[in-house]
Amino acid sequence: MNVSLTPNSELEQSIVSVPDLVQVPEEFISRAHQFQEIMMMYTCAIREVKTKLEVLNDELSVRNSRNPIEMIKSRVKKPISIVEKLQRRGLEVSLDSVVANLDDVAGIRIICSFLDDIYAVADMLVRQDDIRVIAVKDYIKNPKPNGYRSYHMIVEIPVFFSDRKEPMRVEVQIRTIAMDFWASLDHQLKYKKELDNAAEIGEELKQCADVIAETDKKMLEIRQQIESQGIRVRGD
Ligand code: GTP
Ligand code: MG
Repeated sequence: MNVSLTPNSELEQSIVSVPDLVQVPEEFISRAHQFQEIMMMYTCAIREVKTKLEVLNDELSVRNSRNPIEMIKSRVKKPISIVEKLQRRGLEVSLDSVVANLDDVAGIRIICSFLDDIYAVADMLVRQDDIRVIAVKDYIKNPKPNGYRSYHMIVEIPVFFSDRKEPMRVEVQIRTIAMDFWASLDHQLKYKKELDNAAEIGEELKQCADVIAETDKKMLEIRQQIESQGIRVRGD
């Protein structure tokens, strides 16, 4: 069945050269609405996880005078990236397929000050009894061959809507400021693979990642040395 839009008035009909009936397929409107609703649900899931993180950060900053979280970034995956990912994986491009197959439609990135804050924040989050951990990838203990480091989790969180409760998946990436600096620039250089000297550039980027990882370790040691002398390290 189709929804038909008829021109408003005789005047319009006489001036504007439009077909008598503009056919708007009902299916298109219905699909667009369903897509909008699903994206809204992922946005709500992000909000739930973000609130949990903000609560933890507020509590810890009062208790320890230091914020383990420097910044929280979030995003809902763009429609074009959703379609590309489904096609890359040879999966059906449909809304059911998005919900069933993609774990990173909702994404949160937590930027921590120090290395140990990453594990502390991850631990505090997964200890909450409404959070279900689906998968963990520790690219800090096991960096990717290109040098990428971050702690990744897929978590499921219940979101309460007017008539039902939906378990929603969110990808959580936790990294230090230094790891984020590297990953952001690495991402900007994504066309590097097309270069003649791609291997060389890749090696240089990996060396940068290793230097950054060493610096992260040293910064943590320095903080621990200061704390071992009974001095509290303060945030802003
Ligand atoms: P995806 O198809 O990318 O989702 O692969 P995956 O499901 O195996 O996930 P993985 O945990 O490896 O990576 C998920 C996300 O981590 C990516 O979408 C990026 O945001 C980030 N990431 C992973 N590897 C790299 C990398 O080498 N460089 C940068 N800048 N980011 C990366
Ligand atoms: Mg992924």
